[in-house]
Amino acid sequence: MSKKNIASVDVSGKRVLIRVDFNVPVEDGKITDDRRIREALPTIQSVLSRGGKAILISHMGRPEGVGFEPEFSLKLAADRLAQILGKPVAFPSNDCTDAGAAAAVAAAKPGDVVLLENLRFHKAEKKGDPAFAAKLALYGDVYVNDAFGTCHRPDASMVAVPKAMAGKPRVCGFLVEKEIKFLAAAIAKPARPFVVVLGGAKVSDKMGAIEHLMPLADTILVGGAMAYTFLAAQGKNVGTSRVEKDRIADAKKIIDMDKKMKVEVLFPVDHVCSTQFEEKSGDIEVFDDEIKDGFMGLDIGPKTQTKFAIILQKAKTIVWNGPMGVFEWAPFATGTQQVGKAIARATAAGATTIVGGGDSAAAAEKFGIADQLSHVSTGGGASLEMLEGKKFESVDLLDQA
Ligand code: 3PG
Repeated sequence: MSKKNIASVDVSGKRVLIRVDFNVPVEDGKITDDRRIREALPTIQSVLSRGGKAILISHMGRPEGVGFEPEFSLKLAADRLAQILGKPVAFPSNDCTDAGAAAAVAAAKPGDVVLLENLRFHKAEKKGDPAFAAKLALYGDVYVNDAFGTCHRPDASMVAVPKAMAGKPRVCGFLVEKEIKFLAAAIAKPARPFVVVLGGAKVSDKMGAIEHLMPLADTILVGGAMAYTFLAAQGKNVGTSRVEKDRIADAKKIIDMDKKMKVEVLFPVDHVCSTQFEEKSGDIEVFDDEIKDGFMGLDIGPKTQTKFAIILQKAKTIVWNGPMGVFEWAPFATGTQQVGKAIARATAAGATTIVGGGDSAAAAEKFGIADQLSHVSTGGGASLEMLEGKKFESVDLLDQA
């Protein structure tokens, strides 16, 4: 069901309380990936260009919730946003609900931007506390959810704040609208063949997505460490590869379901293996099918890369979630890179291609193909939950279009 977008709300002279997700990765005091900030720009600019006041709220990381902690401050995000917008961003105080924060919101003029400090410095945010939400609700005449990465959380700013603002416009931003369009709508009615690529470390993380996507997809390609639990379930020798023993029964269930359904679930046919879980110090060998004792699979092999690329080349819709190997380490990066490149080629040939956030988005950035894909999600957990077919209360309670 489609939700009202901020574009359809008169924001002139109004305080627009925008829940963004500026939970960006930081290393050595620098933001290493500002995509979540850049992706919030269409909504912020839409408000500013029409004479609204943008009051931004966000969390950052997982602080204790007992007050200000410098390593979880949103100050770096405020500075980066000011740089990208080319205008000042007020960042008033260490507490999103103190007098300084309230004064900055009250002082904002049309076209101004205020970013308040990390909501999670209050335990009340994670608890979904209505009293905390009521204080935040006082900052806005209009509520916007543009925090796709946090849509799966029932945090106060995602659910209790829009509830506290009942009667005022409560709408989605451009980012949330775009994410839902790709992650839900495109999958519900996919152009075919529809191919899903799943990888990453754990089968347990992807079980929900596999079960939801099996009836919808034509082919599911499985790589990454999670493939070894399936191969072990088929009775293959996987050496010392990571296997989730308590998920072998689930893996068998999927393999059996595959036989009864139209979908084809394919696993790696060769593996780049090492004697150690290390980038450089192990002996590296490629094995077909069965892995020799003492070796662990850390990437899909060249035959699998080619097999997967041929299938991806013919696809008209592709969803990719999870890397094919330990792509952060050069000897085990090729599988993920080749799959990413095959998806980029399919996009150029007209396919709709969607990358779930988290590791596969990081891989797409690393291999320089992120802008050659139809959509790279800003949500890690949120995009996976959408692929599991889950609904979000934070989105449900927004106004209907
Ligand atoms: C994310 O990075 O997935 C979101 O910002 C949500 O963060 P969380 O997992 O700490 O709730």
